Amino acid sequence: MSLTIIETAGEMSRALDAVRSTGKIGLVPTMGALHDGHISLIKKSVSENDITVVSIFVNPIQFDDKNDLASYPSTLDDDIAACTEIGVAYIFMPSPADMYPPGFSTFIDMESGTDILCGASRPGHFRGVLTVVNKLFNIVAPDNAYFGKKDAQQLFLIKKMVFDLNMQVNIVSCETVREHDGLALSSRNKKLSPEERAAAACLYKAIQRGAKVVDTILSGNNAGDPETTIDTEPAAKEITSIIQSEPLAKIDYVEILDYETLTPVTTNTKSVLIAAAVYFGETRLIDNLTVVVK
Ligand code: PAJ
Repeated sequence: MSLTIIETAGEMSRALDAVRSTGKIGLVPTMGALHDGHISLIKKSVSENDITVVSIFVNPIQFDDKNDLASYPSTLDDDIAACTEIGVAYIFMPSPADMYPPGFSTFIDMESGTDILCGASRPGHFRGVLTVVNKLFNIVAPDNAYFGKKDAQQLFLIKKMVFDLNMQVNIVSCETVREHDGLALSSRNKKLSPEERAAAACLYKAIQRGAKVVDTILSGNNAGDPETTIDTEPAAKEITSIIQSEPLAKIDYVEILDYETLTPVTTNTKSVLIAAAVYFGETRLIDNLTVVVK
């Protein structure tokens, strides 16, 4: 099947209705400027579905900072070439006016988990993310939808929305793709100066070290004990000090939480999220690791 580019929600739904009975549909939501992280999600979808839809939409309502929206990178010709090569059936690239026509007023407001971590420094961000993802699910009605673990909180909240609202889509979590020095691929990496790019390697190093410390802390706390909060501060301190030893880095947050609830780690925690957001110059990068409690 050759690649078709579709620019309106109505046409997208109609095109898929015609092929829905022929097999499974995979959806990979993106904001374009595709890099190898996105490509890994797209390849996984192509290998697991009969039809893959890649959406490219720089969603205005998830940007709290207008400059960030205005300067969001676009590499459309390369994105189309990459999708063609991989065997994507449709690129869905609607306009903001098509997604949010005048009078649009229905949003997904999740009451927990949205105002911590990235939600604390980006008010309204996840309201925008969940609303657009919900719209994409309704337009495409995919069997499977692919999201990266790189955006751990986003993935968590999307899974929660699907559960809470009984949505009929399987969410597939995909591993983070990294550069040779561990830096997670991100469209924002292009904004780093060479010095900032070199400095940015400290982020992954720091959370790796944090993961080791968390592992040690947890190994002394048997699961099944009555629920008691575990002090993860020593791990957070190690992460903070590694990042702070890099002069070009400025910490937004370092958090260690139970990944099943996004609340403090307890003796009943099964999986721990170690997450950090750090500024290198004007560019804010995020990364995370999860530690499974043995
Ligand atoms: P975007 O930043 O373009 O990311 C699209 C998808 O690619 C997300 O699921 C993200 O987690 C994944 N991704 C990004 N970098 C990755 C990496 N290094 N390794 C693996 N996967 C990676 O996330 C968004 O867009 C938007 O919020 C969106 C979900 C499209 C809603 O607008």
